[in-house]
Amino acid sequence: MSGTEAVVVQVPAAGDMQALGVRLAGLLRAGDLLVLTGDLGAGKTTLTQGIGEGLKIRGPVTSPTFVIARVHPSLVDGPALVHVDAYRLGGFAELDDLDLDASLDDSVTIVEWGEGLAEGLAEDRLEITISRGPAGASEQRAVKIIGVGPRWAAALDDLAW
Ligand SMILES: Nc1ncnc2c1ncn2[C@@H]1O[C@H](COP(=O)(O)OP(=O)(O)O)[C@@H](O)[C@H]1O
Ligand SMILES: [Mg+2]
Repeated sequence: MSGTEAVVVQVPAAGDMQALGVRLAGLLRAGDLLVLTGDLGAGKTTLTQGIGEGLKIRGPVTSPTFVIARVHPSLVDGPALVHVDAYRLGGFAELDDLDLDASLDDSVTIVEWGEGLAEGLAEDRLEITISRGPAGASEQRAVKIIGVGPRWAAALDDLAW
């Protein structure tokens, strides 16, 4: 495959989602964009909390109710985490108004509810889709991670999920 790589990770419980985030953070560097997709309660913010923990940023990472974008500075001279909840955004013009371009290169940018909207921010990105298991079955989630662009062409290959 060239340019697009995908892995699917089974995540039994919330703590495992957090752990996946910590692990994912180990791959991330300034300039990276992650677009998270999944229903309300799927675990997008939980995954972001793990990534924040792994990046060692100033928390807490929460579900922004009134704040659409929040900057979490690094505690260790690494990239900041810019955490965006695009749920209430009306379209690309409103996303553009957030000026994420300005911070993109120096930060790890994560956009919840960004599908169909945030892809335009960067050619290289991780598109992460979280799905629940059968209704009522368990807390199990399936996390599909697709690396788009040259940045991710081989970066996911090395992972033994
Ligand atoms: N396997 C799992 N992965 C992630 N979250 C889980 C899992 N099982 C249960 N949960 C719970 O589901 C909720 C997910 O909420 P949240 O991360 O805010 O979702 P979202 O941001 O997608 O709306 C949390 O209360 C979390 O504890
Ligand atoms: Mg959320």
